[in-house]
Amino acid sequence: MSTDTAKEVLAAWETSSQYWTKHQSLIASMFAPLTDALVDAAHIGPGQSVLDIGGGSGEPSLTIAPIVGQSGSVTYTDPSAGMVKAARDEADRRGLTNLRFHQCPADQLPFPDHAFDGAVSRLSAMFFPDPVAGLREILRVIKSGGNLAFVVWADKEVNPFFRIMTDILEKFIPVEAEDEDAPAAFRFAAPGKLARLLSDAGATSVTERTLKFKIEAPVTLARFWELRTEMSDTFRSKLAQLEVDQVAMIREAVQQAVANYFKDGRMSFPAQALAVSGEKQ
Ligand SMILES: C[S@@+](CC[C@H](N)C(=O)[O-])C[C@H]1O[C@@H](n2cnc3c(N)ncnc32)[C@H](O)[C@@H]1O
Repeated sequence: MSTDTAKEVLAAWETSSQYWTKHQSLIASMFAPLTDALVDAAHIGPGQSVLDIGGGSGEPSLTIAPIVGQSGSVTYTDPSAGMVKAARDEADRRGLTNLRFHQCPADQLPFPDHAFDGAVSRLSAMFFPDPVAGLREILRVIKSGGNLAFVVWADKEVNPFFRIMTDILEKFIPVEAEDEDAPAAFRFAAPGKLARLLSDAGATSVTERTLKFKIEAPVTLARFWELRTEMSDTFRSKLAQLEVDQVAMIREAVQQAVANYFKDGRMSFPAQALAVSGEKQ
């Protein structure tokens, strides 16, 4: 990936950070099952020092901090200053004292070799400019025998939370064929793809598990539109190219198409992700 593309990816996340801050608690609850899967896959327990890569508005760091407890620690990292601020502010609000925060990308971790018992990354590995370089860097900073675990989206077709809106938007703004290795939400959706890269980077005992879960949160149909359009840089920039009446038509079409996933002020979408984990020799 070119340096310019890598910069664009980071700039997009920086812009998105204000919305991830705004929707912080909803995002935490929507993707909570993925955090549980990471805790399980990385064998996280009391007393451990855990590294979180691409922690966004705070997860999974904020959930893991009480699990490792005062005898352990969580080191949150993310390259976006806005994301770091959102996570740090929330940790302060909760009075968590066993968290440290660093603004850095996965491939430039400001830590010595063998610094952590394990590492986790929730929905961020797909944005690494050079995934193997990022994975090698994470392996460098964990101890021998330590675990690392990643969660990435499975196929878009089994994720209506994403698919429905993308499909409707495509009718208005046709998409160019995407490079399957470009940094994007579904870059590692093909089974085995991230697992192979993790092995290439030097991890052992690499496994992949499909996680079937529900994206659930107290979100009404009206609020869903705001949440989806604000969270995604792609949607924000595409909608900005359209006329007001076109946006209104898309909104109407999306709300009709997703209506069945909303009941009594809550949304519940079936979803699938892949949990890929390994060990440092
Ligand atoms: C989809 S968000 C996930 C955030 C959070 N882990 C969560 O699950 O709510 C992706 C995150 O990856 C971060 N990211 C982008 N490029 C990265 C890189 N090269 N290294 C580490 N994180 C990166 C973004 O800044 C963003 O916070």
